[in-house]
This record gives sequence, C-alpha cells and structure tokens, in this order.
Amino acid sequence: MTDATAAPPTPAAAGPDERRYSPGLEGVLAGETALGRVDGQQGRLLYRGYRIGDLVERGSYGAVANLLWTDAWDASHRLPTAAVPDPVVAILRALPASAKPMDALRTAVSAWGATQTLDWPPTVEQARALTSFSPSALAAFARLREGKDPIEPDPSLDLAEGFLFQLNGERPDHGTARALDAYFIVGAEHGFNASTFTARVITSTRSDIASAVAGAIGTMKGPLHGGAPSEVVDQLAKVRSVDRAEAWIRGALDRGERLMGFGHRVYRAYDPRAAALRTVAESMEHKPDWLELAIQVEDVALRLLAERHPERAIKTNVEYYAAPVLQGVGLTPDLFPATFSLARHAGWTAHVLEQAAMNRLIRPDVRYVGPSERDVPG
Ligand code: COA
Repeated sequence: MTDATAAPPTPAAAGPDERRYSPGLEGVLAGETALGRVDGQQGRLLYRGYRIGDLVERGSYGAVANLLWTDAWDASHRLPTAAVPDPVVAILRALPASAKPMDALRTAVSAWGATQTLDWPPTVEQARALTSFSPSALAAFARLREGKDPIEPDPSLDLAEGFLFQLNGERPDHGTARALDAYFIVGAEHGFNASTFTARVITSTRSDIASAVAGAIGTMKGPLHGGAPSEVVDQLAKVRSVDRAEAWIRGALDRGERLMGFGHRVYRAYDPRAAALRTVAESMEHKPDWLELAIQVEDVALRLLAERHPERAIKTNVEYYAAPVLQGVGLTPDLFPATFSLARHAGWTAHVLEQAAMNRLIRPDVRYVGPSERDVPG
C-alpha cells in the first residue's frame, strides 16, 4: 500500500462544510515531533529537551546538529564543511553575479541532489553530507560573484569557522567563529515553521532530502520568514538616532508598516533566541557601531507596539539581534537570509528524518468557496 492510499480521507460533510478553518493554520496541530519545543507563552525553546541558552553556552553547531539527528549529546562532536562537487561549482559559476544568495543556495542544493544517490529513506549520513555541503556552496558563490576562486574546505575547522574561512580566505579569530557558531545553534531548529513544514510535506511524498531542503530554502526566502535581519539594518539606518526613534516608529506604524525584528506567530514572550544573541552581540569584539542604537530603539519599539496592540503581545524576535551578530562577524546584509538557511539545515534535515520514520502523506483538505457547478458557456 502506498502512503497516498494508506487510509481513507475524512469524508467531507454533505452540504455546507462547517469544519473550523484557521487561516495560516494558526493554532492547528499538524504533526508530532521530538526535536524542538517552542513554548510561545513562556518564551522558551528546547532542542530534544535541552534549553537553547545552555546549548549556546556549552555546545557547538556540530554537537547540536548531531543531537537533533541522533538524540545523542556529545559536546565534542564536530562537523567540518564539505567540498562542492565540480558540476555544482560550474552551475554557480554560470549564475549572474546579481543573483540573490538565497537563489544561489537553493540552486546549489538542487544541483547537489542531482550529483548524489539519495535513496529512500533519508539517512543521518545524507543529512550530515548536505548540512556540511551548503556552507561551502554559499561561500563559493559569494566569491565567484566577485571574480574570485572558491576555497577548498579545511577539515580541521568546525562548520561556522570553516564557512568564514571559505568566504574570506583567512581563519576568523576565536571570538568571531564562536559568535557565528552561537548564531548557527539558535537558528538550527524551530518546530513547525513554514520552511520546516515545507520540508516535511516534500518528504511525506517520499521525495529526497535535497528536494526537501531546496523547497525549504524557497520558503525561507520570503521576508515574513527569513528576510528580516537585513531589513533590521535598513530600518535602523532610517531611524538614524535614538531621539528620532519615537517619531519614525509612530510614522511607520501609522503607514501600516511592520517593524522588522518584532512579532512572531508563536512567541507571545521575548524570543529566547533574541535574548541569547543579544548576549553574544554585546560580548563581540567587532560589534557594529549601531548596536547601542539597536538596544535603545528596541525599548521604544516595544513600548509603541504594546500601545498599538494591547490585545497581542508583539515582542522582539530572533532577527533583531541576528543582525548585529551577522554584521559583526563580517557578513554583508545580502548574505544574512542564506546564512540563516545554513543554520536551519540541521533542523530541516532532522525533520526530514523524523517525517520519514513515521511517514504519512501530508494532504490536508480545503474548503471550496468558488461558484457552484455550472455549464461551460457556448
Ligand atoms: N510590526 C507592526 N505590527 C505588527 C508586527 C510588527 N512587526 N507584527 C505583527 N503586527 C501586527 C499586525 O499588523 C497585526 O495587526 P492588525 O491585525 O491590525 O493588522 C497584528 O499585529 C497581528 O499580526 P499577524 O500578521 O496576524 O501576526 P502573525 O502571527 O501572522 O505575524 C510575523 C508574525 C512574524 C509575520 C509578523 O510579526 C511580522 O511581519 N513581523 C515582522 C517581520 C519579522 O520580523 N519577521 C521575522 C520573524 S522571526
């Protein structure tokens, strides 16, 4: 029996369909997971039961990725970057230098899939191979668009450090590598967010891990999901100084604009990832000079959002403090969304494994609201 025919669909009610519909699937339980627990009310995030703040303090991305894939905690577990296959380099070389890094990364993952044998079911080895390939591919594209050659991975470096090395051609200092590693850890997993859900839907058809991650990258490309940190930088550039903050934010809210780096579908409390990254940003050696402005503007924004939306707690989200960390480690804002995607590879691929292990084709119902049955004119 195939997944598609495993169980009969729920019969639609005769007559008008009275089943409850929740736009955006908000509040709808659409699966079960043992990977990440997002407690939106308390502002807590656990990976396989471990608090995110503790993982940032005591772990590394390699250890966290391994935890997500295997449920085993080994703080010394490392994950170096992997080489980019020649056909993928050729494809990246053929892209226009103006291509968006998210488009290049999505293309690279798709091309990588075409160079691999990715049999069903997906395996931890496939997850590890893809997660360690993508930073090299993004670094290669970032260099190729500037007319430079890609740099081969250094297997002695862990993932975040290796990515910066392949981007810049020199090893980052310890503090810089550690800051990006912390960012990778907080970005690794976050429940049934839109891109993870996409990866699970694709996997549920028994498609392969590269297709699932390519689809997830496409989903994350949207500014409501993964595009905010660079917009946080733009927003702060427009605010310019703390004495202009209140007037600027009031104007933006009056125009119906959204403040980037605030609000979340699940969190009604301060995003614990923002808290962890604020600590990282404040302790960075090369922090951007606008970090102090960001901290002051945050207070004004939270006050005005609370005034505007007393019914809905809109708090700082992860993107707000991702911006100074990513800029502080030397990334240009146009690389921020794709770097977020690199971090989320561990979570996406862990969800692919989990979906495959308890697979059932994801195929919800939709309420038809179009015209009743009619004849084609003529
Ligand atoms: N700035 C201003 N108003 C905001 C807001 C923000 N960042 N986030 C939510 N709101 C307001 C909405 O305008 C809406 O008000 P309305 O009902 O008067 O139109 C209300 O709060 C509810 O918003 P809604 O869009 O239903 O919430 P959501 O759960 O779908 O939104 C986000 C989640 C992330 C899409 C939303 O908060 C947002 O657009 N944030 C800015 C982008 C961002 O930081 N993205 C990164 C997320 S990690």
